[in-house]
Amino acid sequence: MTSLPKVTINMAMTLDGKVSRPDGRWYGLSSRNDKKRMDEIRSKAEVLILGKNSILNDDPVIHLRYVENGKDPRPVILLRSGTLPEDKKVFRFSKEPPLIFCLNENYSLVRENLNSLAEIILIPGVDLNPLEVLKILSEMGYREILLEGGPSLNDSFFRLDLISRIFVTVVPFLIGKNDLPSISGGKKEYPNFDRKKWKLVASEAIENEVFLMYEKNE
Ligand SMILES: NC(=O)c1ccc[n+]([C@@H]2O[C@H](COP(=O)([O-])OP(=O)(O)OC[C@H]3O[C@@H](n4cnc5c(N)ncnc54)[C@H](OP(=O)(O)O)[C@@H]3O)[C@@H](O)[C@H]2O)c1
Repeated sequence: MTSLPKVTINMAMTLDGKVSRPDGRWYGLSSRNDKKRMDEIRSKAEVLILGKNSILNDDPVIHLRYVENGKDPRPVILLRSGTLPEDKKVFRFSKEPPLIFCLNENYSLVRENLNSLAEIILIPGVDLNPLEVLKILSEMGYREILLEGGPSLNDSFFRLDLISRIFVTVVPFLIGKNDLPSISGGKKEYPNFDRKKWKLVASEAIENEVFLMYEKNE
């Protein structure tokens, strides 16, 4: 059996650990340096997994702007229910058609409105399990996966212990409001979280931001 692809997370958070504004979106808090760093990280990935709510709320730019001659990773989207509007940037500007994983429940709907814009893969069963997604991506030959959240999608990968590297940028703002998400979050804590210490592999301060890279201790 081939091993699973390597999954890296890249997120930016405020000094108080929040990854979205009170309006539920993330914009205007990261510098040009962070965007450049994000593109460098993206340019090393073959696949870029994006969360459904992140696409709906933030409509992220998915092509590389700051890395010359870099290859855009192929966007991947997981849809357990419903579909996405076809005018989102991920469909308009992707160099390769995005890959969409969906379930029986929404397969027809997704095909109906996104068939000409994306490759659609049906996952049998009722659960869009990240492990199944990684197995299929592995069979397709992808080895380097970048997951850019949001926190719900990150959580479903962390919970199955599928993440091996975390990039975090700390941005110089305090939001203050409670109940805003952090880089990952579900209803329960991760079992034995206090026995699984991540290893700090790199850290760099540029202007008012800190760029951190952690790896899982094997
Ligand atoms: N600061 C940063 O670096 C950063 C980066 C990215 C996003 N964000 C913020 O995060 C916000 C969105 O985060 P979010 O947590 O609400 O949503 P999300 O993680 O972007 O998307 C979650 C949705 O994806 C779908 N999904 C499909 N398969 C899933 C699975 N296995 N596990 C979990 N979800 C799955 C679900 O919708 P269905 O069940 O309907 O399919 C779920 O509600 C954005 O608005 C943005 O502001 C911040």
